[in-house]
Amino acid sequence: MKGRLVRNNIYMVGVQDWGRRLFDSLIPLPDGTSYNSYLIKGSEKTAIIDTVDPPFEEEYLGNLEGVDKVDYIITLHSEQDHSGSIPVLMQKYPQAEVICSPKAKDLLIEHLLIPENKIRTMEDGETLSLGDKSLRFIHTPWVHWPETMVAYMPEERILFSCDFLGSHWTTSDLYANDHPEILLAAKRYYAEIMMPFRSMIRSNLQKIGELDIELVAPSHGPIWDNPSTIIDAYTEWSSDEVQNTVVIPYISMHGSVAKMVEYFSKELIARGVKVELFDLAVTDIGKLAMSLIDAATIVIGTPTVHVGPHPIVANTAILANAIKPKARFAAVIGSYGWATKAVEYLVALMPSLKFEVLGAVMCKGQAKEPTLKELSDLADLIAEKHKTI
Ligand code: FEO
Repeated sequence: MKGRLVRNNIYMVGVQDWGRRLFDSLIPLPDGTSYNSYLIKGSEKTAIIDTVDPPFEEEYLGNLEGVDKVDYIITLHSEQDHSGSIPVLMQKYPQAEVICSPKAKDLLIEHLLIPENKIRTMEDGETLSLGDKSLRFIHTPWVHWPETMVAYMPEERILFSCDFLGSHWTTSDLYANDHPEILLAAKRYYAEIMMPFRSMIRSNLQKIGELDIELVAPSHGPIWDNPSTIIDAYTEWSSDEVQNTVVIPYISMHGSVAKMVEYFSKELIARGVKVELFDLAVTDIGKLAMSLIDAATIVIGTPTVHVGPHPIVANTAILANAIKPKARFAAVIGSYGWATKAVEYLVALMPSLKFEVLGAVMCKGQAKEPTLKELSDLADLIAEKHKTI
């Protein structure tokens, strides 16, 4: 067996995906990722928690060479990067039961064609004994699917958390060791995957807050050997607090919008407001998502393309609507050639966002004096609004 000892008959048997650069054909992975799988040998039963993405099945089975008997294949989350190798494990360990939450059962049957009679579900708070070790399952819905749960091992004070509290980060180190770049990777992961479910995250944090946790063992990224690092960070990220920051994602085709953004940014800075600019033609959307975790205001900059917003801006609006940042205020600035409905289109693309729309500044061609005054007035309004946060 090529697994690495975590402690006391608990092994990491997952794989590192050093080269992956995109998740869900959408999310940038600048640092790759890992698919963590944990082998737990109890005095009576042996369990595996989570599996690996199917392209890594061969390496995964190699890691399990010499492990002749597994009683339980536990899946904390049904997305295929963790559950996808259950079928191959079931071939290797035909006597094993698949353990999951009640809501995961149907997903495993539909997505992975796992026979219903091989699945055993765990209620919230139910415990599975492995002999000298046990696993208590805690339902933690919407981190980030409806069926997600975590498993707590009281004997070793380990919380197995799957996606929750994880990071897309590839390293040969088993532990995070408070490495600041890993916390940044976890922040990126939170922004891209978890942010839409802030209220559920807060209630799930409350649930695990009752536990005595020494290690948080996620299924992406290294193990948190100082659990408060990631738990405190999640508490801050998921809070209702916003910062005195305006995030400005924009596109400029011939320079008019870029000039507006530059002028507007300087006006905001002069009023003591922090700005973060993202040229959507070249930006890493993960960095944009991170900046949206706690910015008070979003101002979108767009040229007009066939009456509507630039398609890349429209795509970003759809993305923002999906990840649901907690920004309280929003506005649109931009330009057009002869006519525009860009603002109406953009507002229609973000029905889930509950911010107060502070206005729009759209100008024909390049921004001239009346438009510059409107931008200054918008900066005044934002600075005033930010005094209330
Ligand atoms: Fe890492 Fe939601 O899967």
